[in-house]
Amino acid sequence: MIGRLNHVAIAVPDLESASETYREILGIKVGEPQDEPNHGVTVVFIELPNTKVELLYPLGENSPIANFLQKNPAGGIHHICYEVDDIMAAKDHLLKSGARILGDDTPQIGAHGKPVLFLHPKDTHGSLIELEQA
Ligand code: CO
Repeated sequence: MIGRLNHVAIAVPDLESASETYREILGIKVGEPQDEPNHGVTVVFIELPNTKVELLYPLGENSPIANFLQKNPAGGIHHICYEVDDIMAAKDHLLKSGARILGDDTPQIGAHGKPVLFLHPKDTHGSLIELEQA
């Protein structure tokens, strides 16, 4: 069911400082911040040869990142995203297996314009997992 690792999303309390760390200390090519108002985040994309890292910063009132940063003020890994070929088949498999999907069990259009769903982190040992249809 699971394909390649699509991205690792890291919530940061200071996007500029985090971008500089990845650029200057790790020597990675870092993109410009992009506002994604529909998802309540500003994102900096870091392209790696085998996957992406996304630095997330809260945008607007009801950002899904705001709570996380309140609990983790220094920032931290927010979720990891695996690719699947068929999001509806993945959804059916998860629900049949007894896993919970966040929201109303319906895949939503994610930050890359593709259908995604998130598993309940209590069912995945504390890690928030996103599945994205490749
Ligand atoms: Co994501």
